[in-house]
Amino acid sequence: ALERTFSIVKPDATKRNLTGKICAMLEDGGLRIIAQKRIQLTLAQAQEFYSVHAERPFYDELCEFMVSEPIVVQVLEGENAILRNREIMGATNPADAEEGTIRKTHALSLGENSIHGSDAPETAAEEIAYFFAGLELVG
Ligand code: CMP
Repeated sequence: ALERTFSIVKPDATKRNLTGKICAMLEDGGLRIIAQKRIQLTLAQAQEFYSVHAERPFYDELCEFMVSEPIVVQVLEGENAILRNREIMGATNPADAEEGTIRKTHALSLGENSIHGSDAPETAAEEIAYFFAGLELVG
């Protein structure tokens, strides 16, 4: 089915000027960018966005990383977009990611892994609503 998912080009990637290369990999993989903006998160926003990880040992490091440089937040649309995007991104840890994936090609480490993608329909809907108004999604 036609689905929407939420994506973030993370600080390690925007800092290295890789936004275009990453968008091209998403598009070449069959996804359409139907909303996009470059923003810099506040610490409070990063903490709220990642609140599901609040008890994890890497939470503080993760939040500080996510505010360290601008990010590009996106809504992606396509057939089975959530799963498709996860395939295009590759495994969370670039050491485990398949050849040709965004994380294998561009990520620096488990934390600095260049891109975020929603893991399920419920989180996709929540994450999209956190960053975009309905009228900003132009499918
Ligand atoms: P993301 O998909 O954005 O969701 C949570 C992020 O936490 C994940 O990508 C990783 O970049 C990061 N992460 C997961 N495990 C660790 C870890 N052990 N140390 C640092 N960051 C981590």
